[in-house]
Amino acid sequence: MAGSLIIAPSILSADLARLGEEVRSADEEGADWIHIDIMDGHFVPNLTWGPPVVAAIRASSAKTFDVHLMIAPADPYLEAFAAAGADVITVHVEAGPHIDRSLQAIKTLGKKAGVALNPGTHESAIAHVLDRVDLILVMTVNPGFGGQSFIPQSLSKISRIRQMIGNRPIHLEVDGGITAATAGAAVKAGADVLVAGSAVFAGGKSADYGRNIRALRQAAIPAVVA
Ligand code: DX5
Ligand code: ZN
Repeated sequence: MAGSLIIAPSILSADLARLGEEVRSADEEGADWIHIDIMDGHFVPNLTWGPPVVAAIRASSAKTFDVHLMIAPADPYLEAFAAAGADVITVHVEAGPHIDRSLQAIKTLGKKAGVALNPGTHESAIAHVLDRVDLILVMTVNPGFGGQSFIPQSLSKISRIRQMIGNRPIHLEVDGGITAATAGAAVKAGADVLVAGSAVFAGGKSADYGRNIRALRQAAIPAVVA
C-alpha cells in the first residue's frame, strides 16, 4: 500500500470565520482530501453545517470533498449534499435501519459511498454491505467533537476490517485523535486514509498546516512501507 496514504484535514478545527481560506490553505499545504463534518445535534451532541456551506467552500479546492454525515436520518439530505459538491458521502451504520438503501442512494447520485462505525459498534454491522461501499470510516473517538483522545481499542477493529475488505478497492479511513503519535499504529493496523482536525490546524497559520501534514505523513511512512 506504499504511496497510497491519504491525509484528510477535518475543517472542524479550522478558523471558521475564514473557512474558504482555510480550505485553500489546507489544499495548498498538502491535504489530499478535505474532510467535512456534518452534525445535527441529534445523532451527535453538536451542530455544524448543511449543504450551503459545502457549496460555499467548493470553489476553494478541487480536491476530494469527503463529507462525513453524523446525522439521522441521512437519506433526506443525500441529494442536497451531492448537489453541493460532495465527492464521498459517508453515512453512519447506526443512523438508520436501512444502510443498504442509503448506500445505494449515494451510488445512484454518482458519488462514492462510505459507511461509518462508532467505537461501540461491531464490524459485523457492515459485513453485508462491503460490496456497496468505496470507503469504511472507523471512528476512533465518539463522534461530535474535535480534539479528543484516540481510543486504542479501535486498532484491533481496524485490523479486522482490513481483513474483511480483502482485495476489494475500499478505502479504510480513521477519524478522531489522529496525531503524529497515533497515525503510525492506525496505518499499521490497515488504515489508508487519516482524518485529522486539531493535529493539522494546530498553530493557526498556513505554514503550520504544511508542517503538521508532513509530520503526520512522516509518522505513518514506516507503517506504510512495512
Ligand atoms: C469528530 C469528527 C472528526 C473531528 C476529528 O466527530 O468526525 O472529523 O474533526 O478531530 P480531531 O482530529 O481533532 O480528533
Ligand atoms: Zn469526521
